[in-house]
Amino acid sequence: MISLKDKILVIGACGQLGAELTLELRKIYGDAQVVAADIAVPKQRELAESGPFEILDVLDRHHLADLAYKHEFTQIYHLAAVLSATGEKRPKFTWKINMKGLENILDLTLEKGIAKVYWPSSIAVFGPNTPRQHTPQHTIMDPNTVYGISKLAGERFCEYYATRYHLDIRSLRYPGLISYKALPGGGTTDYAVDIYYKAVEEVPFECYLAEDTYLPMMYMPDALKATLELMHAPTENIKIRSSYNLTAMSFSPAEIAASIQKHIPDFKITYKPDYRQQIAASWPETIDDSVAQQDWNWQPDYDLPRMTQDMIENLRKQKAGL
Ligand code: SER
Repeated sequence: MISLKDKILVIGACGQLGAELTLELRKIYGDAQVVAADIAVPKQRELAESGPFEILDVLDRHHLADLAYKHEFTQIYHLAAVLSATGEKRPKFTWKINMKGLENILDLTLEKGIAKVYWPSSIAVFGPNTPRQHTPQHTIMDPNTVYGISKLAGERFCEYYATRYHLDIRSLRYPGLISYKALPGGGTTDYAVDIYYKAVEEVPFECYLAEDTYLPMMYMPDALKATLELMHAPTENIKIRSSYNLTAMSFSPAEIAASIQKHIPDFKITYKPDYRQQIAASWPETIDDSVAQQDWNWQPDYDLPRMTQDMIENLRKQKAGL
């Protein structure tokens, strides 16, 4: 349900997802109703100029409370997190940002009576003993990255707050997200973004994953659609209060390279797996998102060929300064 009286805070608004989600929310609710917040000022002009922006460190509870008092938020999208690859370099920092950040948001939600919260989870909640094909909604979860552990703990925490305090918290387990507007930062799936940039620049791409490493992925328009559909679905449809499995496609580096070569035949890829190979190897290859399909009619629009065409078209326009 959409109310134009809603006042929304997007934390992590300069990130890969936040940058686009903030603009979508502004289209729906009105520019002034959506406050973008991040730890640093945005590089994207559109983001800074289209509506209010606040510098915010999610660990700063007092500043969070001040902002909530000033703006009277009714909804929060808490997107700030350290991702999987960066997380392995700074485990304790990652745990602090991801867990303390979430705790601060949940407490603020309780204190201020905020009506609805969105918090993203990830395929990283799964681990080496999870079934890797058509990974079900409910299954073995033994993540072995600090990012995955923080997301799984976060899921349990969200469900606990939803059940115990009746908070309306909604969440999706995103697969790797691919987009051309804002770059991802520090994930294991980032190669699938970088590869398109290199292809359009006409330079060879060295992949840090092995050629047959399959991972679940999604094009940004589908991620935006899923997030907004979930948040706008009637409360009684939201039966999962941990986080919903979600997917659009699965491919390997060799397959994405082949799909690029259909447009750019001279594109070259080489493989030099590094520490991220082990992270990828602990995650599912394909995801069963039938519960999301049943509960709120989830359906993606983009497969690999359609995404490749759109990515190349848009990156070429950007390169030409259009
Ligand atoms: N894209 C994320 C990562 O690679 C997974 O959620 O860390």
